[in-house]
Amino acid sequence: MQKYIVRGGRPLYGEVRISGAKNAAVAIIPAALLVGGVCRIENVPQISDVTVLLKILRQIGANVRVLNTTDVEIDCTHINTTRVPQELAHKLRASYYLIGALLGRFGSAEVSMPGGCNFGGVRPIDQHVKGFAAMGADVREGDYIVARAKGGRMKGANIYLDVVSVGATMNIMMAAALADGVTVIENAAKEPHIVDLANFLNSMGANIKGAGTDTIRVFGVEALHGGTYAIIPDQIEAGTYMAAVAATGGDVLIRGIIPKHMDCITAKLQEMGVEVEEKDDTLRIRRDGELTRTNVKTLPYPGFPTDMQPQITTVLALARGTSIVTEGVWDNRYRYVGELTRMGAQIRVEGRTAIVEGVSHLTPATVQAYDLRAGAAMVVAALAATGTSEILNVQYIERGYEDIIGKLRSIGADIESVEYSEEEFIQRQIG
Ligand code: EPZ
Repeated sequence: MQKYIVRGGRPLYGEVRISGAKNAAVAIIPAALLVGGVCRIENVPQISDVTVLLKILRQIGANVRVLNTTDVEIDCTHINTTRVPQELAHKLRASYYLIGALLGRFGSAEVSMPGGCNFGGVRPIDQHVKGFAAMGADVREGDYIVARAKGGRMKGANIYLDVVSVGATMNIMMAAALADGVTVIENAAKEPHIVDLANFLNSMGANIKGAGTDTIRVFGVEALHGGTYAIIPDQIEAGTYMAAVAATGGDVLIRGIIPKHMDCITAKLQEMGVEVEEKDDTLRIRRDGELTRTNVKTLPYPGFPTDMQPQITTVLALARGTSIVTEGVWDNRYRYVGELTRMGAQIRVEGRTAIVEGVSHLTPATVQAYDLRAGAAMVVAALAATGTSEILNVQYIERGYEDIIGKLRSIGADIESVEYSEEEFIQRQIG
């Protein structure tokens, strides 16, 4: 097992380059299953969720070639089975995209119930299932989700999502790409990764219109062909480095971003007294004065992203005054607050609201990463706290942040990943 040791309390200076977007990559890689031909996918982040997905594709017969640190070639011309075994699928939430992709191409999918980050509440997939059923699939849920399209091919349908769901929007797009007829998804999610998946599929011959708006129309085509596609930069990875600089102070140039995707995060940090300067594909972020309070409400895109909620709350913990954070997407995403309070933060959670009384500094401690973004928040907090902190359960962080240690060290952080034993882990849990 690995843990991070962070000697915090130093401002960050330098430049950091952002990797490809995790939540786009984990949809685009399964979407290669829809393509009879070679897909060259560029700007793929080196994170463990991607490694697992590539292993799953290989396991079911895809030819996967890792070309270099960012590019892979996936050829799903010959797939042996539409059954995805549990041992790998349960490792990540995004394995649900295998259902839409396999159903779309082969009219059949058997995929173990997805695992992934657990925020402490339920993560339902009823909207995905509703979409597949409307398109003529028979879907049974148990340890495995078993779905079969009537007549072996999905049929276009009108689907109104009861909740704005990123996963359901993308899964239905995949199931619809090769369907017979037109699928209309209403109340669709609009995140940058939705647009990225549509662009990927369109570049392989699909006909998808309206991605990035509330209504997406998928005109089913007979087949998709191979091609080359580069994944967009990761909005949340960039936002996390912005939060780190806001918390520690310093001056960092963040390279390789799409500024438009950063608008909501930039606006909040500016309200808090952080200087953010945007130029082409870079953001310069500077903070040397005090942080001031603000309120944050997470919402589907273009609102403030829920995947930045733990990191921004950590910055607000250091801001003068009382801030109110409202979680508008998930029922329960405050499990990390207990860890932050052990570092001296003063935060009270009431349902979906966190009331944050700013403190002048955080104190170092040994803390747990409960999930990916909670872990990122612990890194931000530890970087800001003067002294030595330890972060346990870092495998969650490495699911979604490429080379976080190397990148943070390159901007002056004192952070290292060290091995520790299972016994030490158990001792820490009970001690
Ligand atoms: C995606 O999860 C992301 N994961 C999450 O990021 C992110 O927090 C979330 O979108 C919201 O932006 C991936 O892309 C792999 P949803 P997803 O379906 O698709 C409810 C991270 O940290 N809902 O948009 O699973 C649900 O309970 C991860 O990178 C239903 O009720 O999220 C939630 O309240 C964690 N029924 C809301 O909708 C459904 O069938 C939004 O969920 C589906 C969702």
